[in-house]
Amino acid sequence: MKILSNLGIVVGVGALLISCNDKNLTEVQVPLPEDVATSVQMGNPSDVIANEGTFKMIPLPYSYGALEPHIDARTMEIHFSKHHLGYTNKLNAAVAGTPLAKLTIEEILTSLDLENKTLRNNAGGYYNHNLFWASMSSKGGGEPSGALSAAIIKHFGSYNDFKNQLTETANKQFGSGWAWLVIDKTGKLSVVGTANQDNPLMPNIGVSGTPILALDVWEHAYYLQYQNKRNNYVEAFFKVINWNAVAKRYDDALAKEIPNTIQ
Ligand SMILES: [Fe+2]
Repeated sequence: MKILSNLGIVVGVGALLISCNDKNLTEVQVPLPEDVATSVQMGNPSDVIANEGTFKMIPLPYSYGALEPHIDARTMEIHFSKHHLGYTNKLNAAVAGTPLAKLTIEEILTSLDLENKTLRNNAGGYYNHNLFWASMSSKGGGEPSGALSAAIIKHFGSYNDFKNQLTETANKQFGSGWAWLVIDKTGKLSVVGTANQDNPLMPNIGVSGTPILALDVWEHAYYLQYQNKRNNYVEAFFKVINWNAVAKRYDDALAKEIPNTIQ
């Protein structure tokens, strides 16, 4: 710690020392106390439990710090244990005691009344974030392979063309929202964007398809680390994409031709 001693005033952590003897301005070095120079303690994702209800917190498949340096641990902790938990609890409260409590999240979304704003926001928030967590891995990044790679080349021209489309969609989304890679019932891949917590499974929102990759562009997903530089966050996201998980969802969607359950 570098501090100034003027008229003998020395300010340390937790201490204020004053002396009138020294009239000179001098610069002194004071070591930082060990109890201050410690890292922020992170919680454990598996300790985050939703209120009793239909929908549970699907465990984060990695630690909060697993995606560093691309996505920082503090952002992941707040995002999962505060924001995502909030959506889950509000969704449970919204469906409690109604026939919706017996439906899957995909069934709720595909039959959603858009005027039901509470359900729209929180069912969307629950589904979207679960897919977002599953879209990333500490061993992610690189490019897809196999059938998914061939499909991306077929429908976008190249991996870089796909990357450019997803990047542009994410960066141009005004305010809060999401960018998606989706597959339609004919097997065609496309990139779409949605506002707030809407997603392509919802009826009549202007885009459609089964999501196989989700990118959260709400400020809460990146602001601590990247501030206003959303484009840097989007670039970092490509370094943690779990292409194995995306490929499995692609295969499942082709086989079922219906929205597949998040796992
Ligand atoms: Fe989010």
